[in-house]
Amino acid sequence: MFISKFSQLGAQVIKGLAKAGPLTSTPRMSYLHVFSDSPLQPLRHGRFSTTASDKSQEDGNEEKQKISVTFVDKDGEEKHIKVPIGMSMLEAAHENDIELEGACEGSLACSTCHVIVMDTGYYNKLEDPTDEENDMLDLAFGLTETSRLGCQVIAQPELDGIRLALPLATRNFAVDGYKPKPH
Ligand code: FES
Repeated sequence: MFISKFSQLGAQVIKGLAKAGPLTSTPRMSYLHVFSDSPLQPLRHGRFSTTASDKSQEDGNEEKQKISVTFVDKDGEEKHIKVPIGMSMLEAAHENDIELEGACEGSLACSTCHVIVMDTGYYNKLEDPTDEENDMLDLAFGLTETSRLGCQVIAQPELDGIRLALPLATRNFAVDGYKPKPH
């Protein structure tokens, strides 16, 4: 008795649902209409806040925009630093307390920022030195085939991992009284 009433009730519910039609025929109003006054509605123009992920992406880019550089001093001691893309090796050395003088502060009027690129593979990736740089390099102590002026070597992604040796001495003609002669 109880069971048959229960199944009648079930049959009525099913009929009612059938009259209402399939669920997919519900008009496509619902979501925005229903929530139009809700503080939880999506941002206008379909834009959603991505502040957190933007931030982490920026952090990732910042990390990527630095390269690893190793300076090797006169005693063979190595110092590993991170250098932002676009920064000269002279600036990077100064920021990291590495003894690279740079008496003229990068104006190509000395050779005290002389560095030796320890791997020819990296040396060949550098832009060719200008005549002014070559003129100054001619005055550097301990000139080698892979010598460059640190103020002219700019951090680029392809230089990641470069190793630069500091020469045993530098000539500072501002102090030594040496005057470079034009070639
Ligand atoms: Fe003088 Fe580089 S700092 S030429």
